[in-house]
Amino acid sequence: MMNSETPRVRLRRLRENRLLAESLREVSLEPRQLVLPLFVVPGTGVRNPIPGLHGVDHWSVDRVGEGVEQALDAGVKSFILFGLPTKKDPAGSTAWRDDQPVQRALHTLKDRWGDQVHLVSDVCMCEYTDHGHCGLLTEDGRVDNDPSAAMLGRIALSHARAGADTVAPSAMMDGQVAVIRRALDDGGFQSTPIMSYSTKFASAFYGPFRAAAGSAPSFGDRRGYQAPSTNWREAIRESLLDEEEGADILMVKPSLLYMDILSRLREATMLPLACYLVSGEYMMLRHSIAAGALDEERGLLEAHFALRRAGADLIITYAAVEVARLLSRGRP
Ligand code: PBG
Repeated sequence: MMNSETPRVRLRRLRENRLLAESLREVSLEPRQLVLPLFVVPGTGVRNPIPGLHGVDHWSVDRVGEGVEQALDAGVKSFILFGLPTKKDPAGSTAWRDDQPVQRALHTLKDRWGDQVHLVSDVCMCEYTDHGHCGLLTEDGRVDNDPSAAMLGRIALSHARAGADTVAPSAMMDGQVAVIRRALDDGGFQSTPIMSYSTKFASAFYGPFRAAAGSAPSFGDRRGYQAPSTNWREAIRESLLDEEEGADILMVKPSLLYMDILSRLREATMLPLACYLVSGEYMMLRHSIAAGALDEERGLLEAHFALRRAGADLIITYAAVEVARLLSRGRP
C-alpha cells in the first residue's frame, strides 16, 4: 500500500504536473548565457572545418560573419575571438597589430552588427609566439612575467580599439589584470570590462584547441603559470586576487571537471562568473555521442544545465549554437 505521506511520494507529486514542475525549475539556461568561440585565420574565402574539433571552423575575416549570422539566428549574441596571425616570432610581435585577423574581425563584425553583438577577445600570446608559450621568454627559456604582462596590456588595448566590447586575458601572468586595466583606462577605454580567466588549470583537456590555434608549447608545459588540478583553495585564491586587481567577471576553466571550483567560487565572490567548457571536454561529449553512448540532445543540455546549477552566469562553449537551437525548440 502506498502511503501518500512518505517524503518520496511528496517529491514525486511535484514532478507529475508538467507545468507545475516547469514553474519550479531552479535553474534556467538561455541562449543569452552562451558564448561561442570563433577562430579567425589569415586569407580570404576560408571556412575550413577544424580537424578534431567537431562542428568548429577556421574562418577568414571576410567570411566570419556567416558564423555570427548562424549564431544570431539561434539567439546567441556573445562571441569570443581567437586568431592565427600571419607570422609568429619569439616576441609574438604580431599580437597587437591592427592588420591581424582578430583585430580585423573585431572591426568588421562591430561595423556590421554594432551593439547587436557582444564581442569578447581572448588576450594571450601563445597563438603569436613561435615557441607557443603565453608570454615572452628569458634567455634561459623561462616565461618573463612583467614584460609579458606589459605586452598583454598593449594587446588588450589594440583589441578594444578594434571593437572588442570585453577583453579576456588568458595568459596567467601575475598582475596582468591590473596592467590591462591601466592600459585600457589610459587609452580611453575606462568602460571596457575585463573577463579574466582567473582560475585556469594546467589541463590535458586543451589538446584540440592547441591543435586548432597552433599554440602547443614547443618545449616544456604551462605548469609554471597555470594552476595544479589538485589544489582547490589555491584555485579560489587565484580568482580572488584577480577580483582585487580589478577583474569584472571571473572564470573557471576547464568547467565540467571543475564544477566543485565553480560552486565554491560562487560562494566566495559576488562578481559574475563565466566558465569555459573547453575543447577536450567538448570532444569527450562528441566522441560519446558518435559512439552511441550518449544521446546528443539530452547529453548536451544536461552538461550545460549542470554548469548553470554549479553557479556559472556565462558558459563559453563550442556547442553554443546547437544548445541554443534546442532551447528555442522548447527543450528540455
Ligand atoms: C590561451 C587559451 C587556451 C584556451 C583558451 N585560451 C589554450 C591554453 O591555455 O593552452 C583553451 C580552450 C580550449 O581548450 O577550448 N590563449
